[in-house]
Amino acid sequence: MGTNPFFDKDIVSIKDFVKDDLEYVFEATDTISSLKHSERSELGKGRALGYVFYEPSTRTRMSFEAAMASLGGSSIGIADLKSSSVEKGESLADTIRIIDLYSDVILLRHPMDGSSRFAAELSQNPIINAGSGSEEHPTQALLDMYTILREKGTIGGLSVAIVGDLKYGRTVYSLLYGLANYDVDIHLVSPTTLQVRKESIYELQGRMKIKEHSNLDEVLTEADVIYVTRIQRERFPDVQEYEKVKGSYTIDEKTLAKAKKDVAVMHPLPRLDEISQSIDHTKNAIYFKQASYGKELRAALLALMLNESLPR
Ligand code: NCD
Repeated sequence: MGTNPFFDKDIVSIKDFVKDDLEYVFEATDTISSLKHSERSELGKGRALGYVFYEPSTRTRMSFEAAMASLGGSSIGIADLKSSSVEKGESLADTIRIIDLYSDVILLRHPMDGSSRFAAELSQNPIINAGSGSEEHPTQALLDMYTILREKGTIGGLSVAIVGDLKYGRTVYSLLYGLANYDVDIHLVSPTTLQVRKESIYELQGRMKIKEHSNLDEVLTEADVIYVTRIQRERFPDVQEYEKVKGSYTIDEKTLAKAKKDVAVMHPLPRLDEISQSIDHTKNAIYFKQASYGKELRAALLALMLNESLPR
C-alpha cells in the first residue's frame, strides 16, 4: 500500500474519492479485519471519537463506536440532542468547536446539506460526514461498495438496481458517485415522484450508464445487485405525498423467483416494509452482513485517519 491518503483528512463527500482511494480503503479494511487483537487495539489507543447526531441513528453511530473500541479508542458524544446544550439553542458551529476540543476525530449527522463541509471548515480535527440532509452519506457508500466487492468478488461489470426513494435518499447519491468509478450498469427504480434529483447527478452524465424505471420487474432478470432504500418520510414536505408512495415496492419471495439466482439484496437499513422478513434467511439477503462489514470498514477509515500507516 502506498502513502495513506486519509491521514488527518476529512471525509465529507464521496466525490472527493478517486478509484485508487476507494481501493485503498477496501484493502485497508481487509488488513484491519485480519489483524490480531493486540495489534488492532493499538491503532486508536488513547484517542477519542467525538460525535453529534442531529438525526436518529442506530448503525452509523454504533458501528463507529464499535469500530473505535476495536482500535482501543473511546467514543464520546451527543446522540440525544435534548440532553445537550443544542436544546438551549447552542449553534452547530459552537457545538463542533467544543467537540473539536475533546476529541481526535469528529462524526456529524445533520439534516442540512452542506453541514459537514461547514463543520470541516471550523474544526482542527478531521470531520466524518455521517449523513448530511438528503445530500450524502459517504461512509455508507464505502461500506456498500465494500459489501458488493466481498459478496460478488467484483464491482466492475455488474448491473446494479437502486430501488425506492431516489429523491430524498442520501445513500443513493453517495453510492452513485462511488460506483461511477467502475464500469457498472445502473437501473434506477422509483415512483415517478421520487426519481433521482437530476441536478444532483449532473456530473455523472456521460460517465455512467443510467436507466430509469418505475416497474421493478423490468430490471429483475438483469440485476446482480438490488439496493433497496426506505421512503424517507421525514424529508417529505407534505405527509399526504408520503402516503401516496409508501409501500411502493416490496422485495419478497415472488421478487426473488423472478430475479437472478445469486442476486444480492442490499439495504442501508432501517427497513420498513420494502423488504419482507420472509426472505431474511435466504442467501440473497445480505443487508445484515452489509451492516457488519460497515463496522470493519469504519474501523479501517478511523485507523487510516489516526495513523500515518497501518501494520502489514
Ligand atoms: C440511512 C441514512 O441515515 O441515510 N441510514 C443509515 O445510515 N444506514 C438510511 C435511511 O435512513 O433510510
